[in-house]
Amino acid sequence: MKWEKCIFETLDSTNKMAKTQEVGAVVIAKSQTDGCGRYGHAWISPMGNLYMSVVMKMYGINTPLMTFVIAVSIVEALTKIGIFTTIKWPNDILLNDKKVAGILLECADDKLIVGIGVNVVSHPTENLPYPATDLNGQVSPEKLSDLILETFDKYIGIFETQGFEPIYCKMKSYLKGIGHSVVVRLPNQQLNGIFKDFSQSGALILQLPDKTEREITAGSVFFI
Ligand code: BTN
Repeated sequence: MKWEKCIFETLDSTNKMAKTQEVGAVVIAKSQTDGCGRYGHAWISPMGNLYMSVVMKMYGINTPLMTFVIAVSIVEALTKIGIFTTIKWPNDILLNDKKVAGILLECADDKLIVGIGVNVVSHPTENLPYPATDLNGQVSPEKLSDLILETFDKYIGIFETQGFEPIYCKMKSYLKGIGHSVVVRLPNQQLNGIFKDFSQSGALILQLPDKTEREITAGSVFFI
């Protein structure tokens, strides 16, 4: 894909701006005043970190799988510069078990907006549901955005020609916590259980205390 980068000093949210752009646009801001995280959380966005939104086409019923395509791409982009990360299902990137990057997928008309936030030089320290960290400035946001887009291109190509299977295998190898006790927070329910597996359709298979299994397709995972 020939990506068209638009770089702003500051925006409310790159995802919001991306919704007004065409497929192929990549909106980057050096800071955001109203960055959005998953579940309506704020994404604190001071200067120095990476805030990027990629405008893509939709992939029909496979569109939600794009979250794994980008998660795998971020892990591999960081690996290229010697930073080894893991993935907390569905799409948090962890460095030393702490969140270093997040992904927010949104739909706008017939477009998919892939919002990526990476803590490059700083991370929030207050009011967090999980521990966070940053890359300690080991790479610039500019270089990191190029690395991510390059790797993303590779995996979009794989996804389009070979389907989800190769991405599924990569994802499974990067996933943290299979076999561990977890709490899964759903919009109006909290479930305790064991993270049994990651399914071929991208779901988290949770074994409940009564040994039945439940397929979770969206939710926040906490390791206990
Ligand atoms: C999460 O909650 O983990 C997702 C965070 C996504 C943050 C990024 S920063 C760039 C893009 N613009 C936004 O407003 N949010 C995403």
